[in-house]
Order: sequence, then structure tokens, then C-alpha cells
Amino acid sequence: MRTVAELRTVLAPLRAAGVGFVPTMGALHEGHLSLLRAARNDTGTVVLSIFVNPTQFGEAADLDAYPRTEAADVALAAEAGVDVVFAPSVAEMYPAGFATTVSVGGAITGTLEGAERGRAHFDGVATVVSKLLLAVQPDRAYFGAKDAQQVVVVRRMVADLGIPVEIVTRPTSRDADGLARSSRNTRLSPADRTVAAAIPRALRAAQDAFADGIRDPRSLTDTVRAELVGLSPEYVELVDADSLDPIREIEGPALLALAVRVGQVRLIDNVVLVPGVDERIALGPAERSHA
Ligand code: PAJ
Repeated sequence: MRTVAELRTVLAPLRAAGVGFVPTMGALHEGHLSLLRAARNDTGTVVLSIFVNPTQFGEAADLDAYPRTEAADVALAAEAGVDVVFAPSVAEMYPAGFATTVSVGGAITGTLEGAERGRAHFDGVATVVSKLLLAVQPDRAYFGAKDAQQVVVVRRMVADLGIPVEIVTRPTSRDADGLARSSRNTRLSPADRTVAAAIPRALRAAQDAFADGIRDPRSLTDTVRAELVGLSPEYVELVDADSLDPIREIEGPALLALAVRVGQVRLIDNVVLVPGVDERIALGPAERSHA
């Protein structure tokens, strides 16, 4: 389906079954499929959108290099039991004269990715997600914890605008060595891919320290930095998981998030540290023996 008009017509008789929606930029991998499975499990009608949204990319080169694999995505979607694939053109989403931006303000868009990539990134995300939610009008929309700040921003926007949808967050899906799955991983060389495996090891080291009772943000972020051998992260930060405000000591759920460039590719990852909860990234046998 390429147009909102077609989408509305097709969805009209399918709405009664409950609509679950998974917005993506395509190049589908197991992380996306885990969201589709959750939607398939919860709702009678599953909608997938594939749209590489130009307004959320800072660098034109990153937009150009973003993988586009629509035929394979449509096949995977069919296997996953998706009922409707909405893959609009840029002109359909942003017709001539388009002049509206949905901008979520405050600390949640000024920190982490917002500080590094600029607020325009989340303006792009908020604008396209609100347009997609209006086009699909789902009962539930599914987002990955891999993009933790995106989830906070989308939840804020949905609450502020009163969009009638339930936002569901699903855990980060990881490769056997712990690396978070990402469409951008296909652009890592084999050597870069090996280097990137330090990212989950570093987050796991912080989880281990946290389980040992360390509650000081600085020592936990230092632990992460020490494990990122040969990499210079753009940021490694520990913030309140809901407000994204800096914290002095972990007392409630805390988001430990990082961004790091490996070769040509910018990768992000995070874990949430919750006092009293011991959840850790599973690393492959080779990785564990290093630790
Ligand atoms: P994209 O990067 O394609 O991701 C689509 C959805 O899949 C997001 O909710 C993302 O958090 C989730 N996802 C990606 N990798 C994951 C992983 N390893 N485990 C679990 N979930 C994962 O995020 C976007 O697209 C865009 O910003 C979008 C919301 C579609 C707006 O353009």
C-alpha cells in the first residue's frame, strides 16, 4: 500500500479485530520481527509501515547509505503474518507545501541523542510518528527498547496530544554475542563487527557492577568506558529512565545509554538498571571467557 487513502479503505473492515501497528524504516531484522510477533499475538490485524523518514536524518550521507530492502521486507512481513504493509513515498508523507513540525520540548529531547544529533532528529521522529499514527489509527503501537529515548519521546507526544493509542515497548533483541540488532549493522565490516562486540560486553560489565551493589553513576559509566577498548564513545550516560534527567545515585529505574561510532556506522545501545531486579545481557561463550 502506497497511499493513506488506500490504507484507510483496506483497514476499514479490519478495524473491529483490533489494530496493532509496527512503524519501521525497513531493512527488517529479528528486532523488528519481535515487535511484529508481539502485535500478532495481541491484535487481530497487524500493520507494518516501512518508510525511511528523511526528516529524522542529520547527515544526507547517512540517509543515502540507509539500507533499503523492500522486496525482502515484504516477504518477511508475510511470513510474520502481517496483514497490511504501508510503504508510502516521500511525496505521500511530505507533499509540496508541507509546513508542520511536531516538536517535543524539554529535557527529554535535549539530552543523549538530542544533544548529539540535535533536536531536529526527534522533531523528525515525532512528526512522522504522529502522521503514521493518524494514518493507521491503531489500538496499539509497538516500539523497541533499543531506542529508549525515542520511546520516552513518543509516549510524551501521545500523552500531550491525546492520541488514542496504547504504546507498547518490547525488549532489545540481540545477536548471540550480545550486539543489539540494527539495520545499520549490515554496514559494519567483519573487523568492525568484532570491535562492536565490545558494546554489549561494556553494558554487561556495568550490569555486573550494579548487581554487586554499585549505585554511583560515575563508576558505572567509567566501567562502560573502560570496556570500550579502542572506541571513543560520543556519550555514555546514566539518567533517570522516565525523565531522562541526570541522577546522583540510582534509586529507581535508570537508563544507561551510549552512542559510539564503529567504522562508518553510528551505533546506540542501552540497558535499564532497576534496583532489586537482576537482568543482564546474555553474552556468547567466547565473550564470557574474556570477562
Ligand atoms: P527503525 O530503526 O526501523 O526501528 C523500528 C522499530 O524497531 C523501533 O521501535 C525500534 O526501536 C525497533 N528496533 C530496532 N532494533 C531493535 C532491536 N534490536 N530490538 C528491538 N527492537 C528494535 O525507529 C525507527 O525505525 C524510526 O525512528 C521510526 C519509529 C520508524 C520513525 O521513523
